[in-house]
Amino acid sequence: MSQFSKTTELMRRGTDFLGTDYAILCGAMSWVSERNLVSAISNAGGFGVIACGAMTPDLLDTEIAATKALTDKPFGVNLITMHPQLLDLIAVCAKHGVTHVVLAGGIPPKGSVEAIKEFGAKVIVFAPTLALAKKLLRSGGDALVIEGMEAGGHIGPVSTSVLAQEFLPALAEDHLVFVAGGIGRGEAIASYLEMGAVGVQLGTRFACATESIAHENFKKAFFRANARDAITSVQVDPRLPVIPVRALKNKGSEEFTAKQIEVAKMLDAGEIEMGEAQLQIEHFWAGALRRAVVDGDVESGSIMAGQSVGMLKTEEPVADIMQELMMQSEEALGGR
Ligand SMILES: Cc1cc2nc3c(=O)[nH]c(=O)nc-3n(C[C@H](O)[C@H](O)[C@H](O)COP(=O)(O)O)c2cc1C
Repeated sequence: MSQFSKTTELMRRGTDFLGTDYAILCGAMSWVSERNLVSAISNAGGFGVIACGAMTPDLLDTEIAATKALTDKPFGVNLITMHPQLLDLIAVCAKHGVTHVVLAGGIPPKGSVEAIKEFGAKVIVFAPTLALAKKLLRSGGDALVIEGMEAGGHIGPVSTSVLAQEFLPALAEDHLVFVAGGIGRGEAIASYLEMGAVGVQLGTRFACATESIAHENFKKAFFRANARDAITSVQVDPRLPVIPVRALKNKGSEEFTAKQIEVAKMLDAGEIEMGEAQLQIEHFWAGALRRAVVDGDVESGSIMAGQSVGMLKTEEPVADIMQELMMQSEEALGGR
């Protein structure tokens, strides 16, 4: 009997689906989830996911090939649905025989799910509402990730605990549901498994693992931060929409508020048109995650992090994190 038998039993449908030892996904993180972290996660028994983000098909091609050279375990590719070359990216996944494609960032455009299924890969989708989840699972989604607002990066308005209570009783029996957002320890994993989830997805907990190529400054900012430092971007003016992103507060977040006020004033004074105003807001953060992760600019870059960041204190190898999560889950289940 395995060391983690209670946990792996509850994860069975998830591990069968992913082809892994543990149903723990490391959610795709732009600039962070590249060959090194992804292969480390998969080699440690979890499921790594390459973040395609804004990559071109050629870059994705290189990244998948490089990841394959580092692991022979299953891993996935996360594609953003509004990428202008989505179908070309899917073709790259087909060329490499990628087994799982995660579609993030909105409702998959017509034909995309079909194109993925055509080469035999599984499709993992996100859904912010139960109605949309049911629709996506009916129209080809093989598994669903529900992600609460505790998570790092782009977020919805509802917490993980509420999403879990709303979605799991309705879907868990007939569908594969993974829970994400705010998970920092195995006890939380155990509780979502008991509610019917087949696995979980973590981002923040793995972002600063030893194998992560994130800049030293980015990692230090994570280890210094408390849960309350991981704040959401605030919209100042109803005319200027802001997509909420959870990141560590820094000079950039203050400047973003100031920028919105400045642009709103220019709008009031008739100095700029609405389109230009909205574009200025939208473009403020362009390249900001890259600045923080790759260049180590933690002042003006975007240090995307979830609320579980407060539980991270030091750099640890992925395999150690994975074992710790499994052990905590197992102990929690054993005590019940
Ligand atoms: C630095 C960072 C970058 C992220 N980038 C992406 C992304 O490019 N695409 C995506 O679907 N999710 C992205 N996410 C979300 C993660 O995949 C994952 O769902 C989330 O981190 C889980 O919640 P947690 O941070 O509370 O563990 C990002 C998260 C972080 C922390």
